[in-house]
Amino acid sequence: MKDIERLFDNNRNWADRMTQANSHFFKDLAEQQRPKYLWIGCADSRVSANEITGLAPGEVFVHRNVANLVIHTDINCLSVLQFAVEILKVEHVIICGHYGCGGVQAAVEDQRHGLIDNWLRHVRDVYHRNEEVLKKAGSNDALLRELCELNVREQVVNVANTTTVQDAWLSGQALYVHGWIYDIHDGLLKDLGVTLDKIQ
Ligand code: CO
Repeated sequence: MKDIERLFDNNRNWADRMTQANSHFFKDLAEQQRPKYLWIGCADSRVSANEITGLAPGEVFVHRNVANLVIHTDINCLSVLQFAVEILKVEHVIICGHYGCGGVQAAVEDQRHGLIDNWLRHVRDVYHRNEEVLKKAGSNDALLRELCELNVREQVVNVANTTTVQDAWLSGQALYVHGWIYDIHDGLLKDLGVTLDKIQ
């Protein structure tokens, strides 16, 4: 149980530090959250939204799933998006993929992984739609990196096509949808330059 006790020790120390730095910290946060950002990222343990962006609790609303997918029938992700845009009025939706994504890799392998293959089918579809371009990648590693980026681009379009985002834009709400990628090898984020801020 030592593995678990460590988490509670860490938590008490963290709460103490936060209160020492700002005695109102938890009181203010308990009253209201006002995040400017919605982060949609991979569930990968190495890609922690708050940590890699230096944002404190209360600053970023987060949804994570395997391979950072936004699927039009995923009521979980769509509900997060609706709440973030309509109620919290976030100004930025960030889709953040990452190189070395196990989900993206598994999606293009011939090996079976069980239930998750149904989910990863969406990434495999991205692969098939871009097969001609991807085949020109010099190596398997380069192909996977490119597919990680293409997957982010596709999710940016998916976010932009949701009723929530279309309605926000039609009503004149300022809302930017960004596509980023994180490199687990150096800890750096890269903007893929595919930001959308209006109906195309
Ligand atoms: Co991943």
